[in-house]
Amino acid sequence: MLSGKKIVVMGVANKRSIAWAIARAFHGAGAELIFTYQNGRFKDKVEKLVGEDMPGSLLLPCDVSEDAELDNLAAELKSRCGRVHGVVHSIAYAKKEELDGLFADTSRDGFLLAHNVSAYSLVAVTQRLYPVMDEGGSIITLTFQGSQRVVPNYNVMGVAKASLEASVRYLAADLGPYGIRVNAISAGPIKTLSAKGVKNFNRLLDGIEEKTPLRRLATAEDVAETALYLAADMSSAVTGTIHYVDCGYHIMGT
Ligand SMILES: NC(=O)c1ccc[n+]([C@@H]2O[C@H](COP(=O)([O-])OP(=O)(O)OC[C@H]3O[C@@H](n4cnc5c(N)ncnc54)[C@H](O)[C@@H]3O)[C@@H](O)[C@H]2O)c1
Repeated sequence: MLSGKKIVVMGVANKRSIAWAIARAFHGAGAELIFTYQNGRFKDKVEKLVGEDMPGSLLLPCDVSEDAELDNLAAELKSRCGRVHGVVHSIAYAKKEELDGLFADTSRDGFLLAHNVSAYSLVAVTQRLYPVMDEGGSIITLTFQGSQRVVPNYNVMGVAKASLEASVRYLAADLGPYGIRVNAISAGPIKTLSAKGVKNFNRLLDGIEEKTPLRRLATAEDVAETALYLAADMSSAVTGTIHYVDCGYHIMGT
């Protein structure tokens, strides 16, 4: 389904990362993958994971809050791959203390940091990489329903996700004429490293299974299947959407 496509996967921290599940699905579908990692702290882990499962894949550093690293990523992709056909942006960050207590207490620094890494980074990545997507392609990001509804402790991240979702629509409108589609997957809650940063995240999961129409929680593998569809030509007329993969939880009143 993805053979002949070169896809950049940003946001693998460990084997629980949603980006890793997506990478595995894309690899299984024949894609050639290029991985980016945030910094030295993640390098060894990502190298080990990729080395075991997908040896030969290119790994490049990219802290999305650093313009020079983004410029370097675009240059490296151009020179080493020629072109790419897709990008998975699976990146978010907020200070732990902002994911607790009142949203009204959000600091200016905390607000700007969360928006910089979790929302603006999609714009910054897209702006550098769309010229390298000269045969068209698909850009996919990850969001959460806390953008639309108040979810306890999600706070500033919910506001950043609202900005991310609006960015998806504006980017989709800009890049449609270049044959590039931009979509977001709104995933249900999944236990990952980032999720641990949200206070009482486990309590958030309590009882959700009984409330979702499908009576279960979505998994990273569920998200990966939808990402596969969004990266493949079978979604060729789909752009600017926020696609829920949450076992239907978003339609429920409680
Ligand atoms: N886990 C959930 O419940 C859930 C639900 C909906 C959406 N999401 C979203 O999915 C995406 C992936 O999160 P995850 O749950 O797989 O957690 P994760 O911790 O495995 O992944 C988050 C990634 O963001 C990267 N990152 C953070 N700051 C960065 C920076 N400055 N530069 C480059 N990379 C940076 C980290 O290195 C990490 O790889 C995030 O956007 C998250 O908000 C998660």
